[in-house]
Amino acid sequence: MNKAVRKAIIAGNWKMNKTPAEATQLIGEILAANEGKDVSGCEVIACVPYVDIDAAVKAAAGSFIKIGAENCHWAKSGAFTGEISADMLVACGVEYVIIGHSERRQYFGETDLTVNQRVKAALEAGLKVILCVGELLEQREQGITAEIIAMQTKIDLLDITAEQMANIIIAYEPVWAIGTGKTATADQAEEVCAHIRATLATLYGEAVAEATTIQYGGSMNAKNAAELLGKTNVDGGLIGGAALKAADFSAIISAAQA
Ligand code: PGA
Repeated sequence: MNKAVRKAIIAGNWKMNKTPAEATQLIGEILAANEGKDVSGCEVIACVPYVDIDAAVKAAAGSFIKIGAENCHWAKSGAFTGEISADMLVACGVEYVIIGHSERRQYFGETDLTVNQRVKAALEAGLKVILCVGELLEQREQGITAEIIAMQTKIDLLDITAEQMANIIIAYEPVWAIGTGKTATADQAEEVCAHIRATLATLYGEAVAEATTIQYGGSMNAKNAAELLGKTNVDGGLIGGAALKAADFSAIISAAQA
């Protein structure tokens, strides 16, 4: 992290877990676990399933936890059965949205072009975006991680202006490390996060690149968080499994205070 120039952000990605009642409980447990602690060293976000948003917004009201969603559609409204628009999320009290998560790309046919459309729609609605990029294991083994990451970053951010970058967080999530217990080493995470920053510099210049928060995600947990966050270009985490346990998520929040 380099807190002198950019914000540290710890975000939970709950995926398809928790009912509204369970969401209320988990947020309550996270707040209780952090009571009396100084958590001002990072921003904390819980990205929750659509149906949990109302419960989560209420449970987190007035606290340090901000609420995010896990996706949104690119259209403002219309015949898109099963989809949710960015405006709807804003109306429900959501401040952040994850776009381009590898599970959306892998299982639901998301491409860089649809990711880009969703990013634009989310920003237009006033949401802050957590944009996910990451390579597959085969791509890492072929030695093309840098190309893949640069390409995703460039296409996903097509037409996004330097001013709009203030509302974009990038999450580097190597697909082989998600939910597998196989974390990237801190050096691997640092190398790719630095590469994303260099790519941003070519698109927007040094100042924007330096000010952008770049998270690492993929089996980040209470044990490995401090080492990962100790790297200059790793400005936070996008956390799946460990975000579902109040003690583990709180330990990661604590690690981000350093
Ligand atoms: P994980 O998920 O922490 O369970 O690996 C991270 C993510 O998918 O955002």
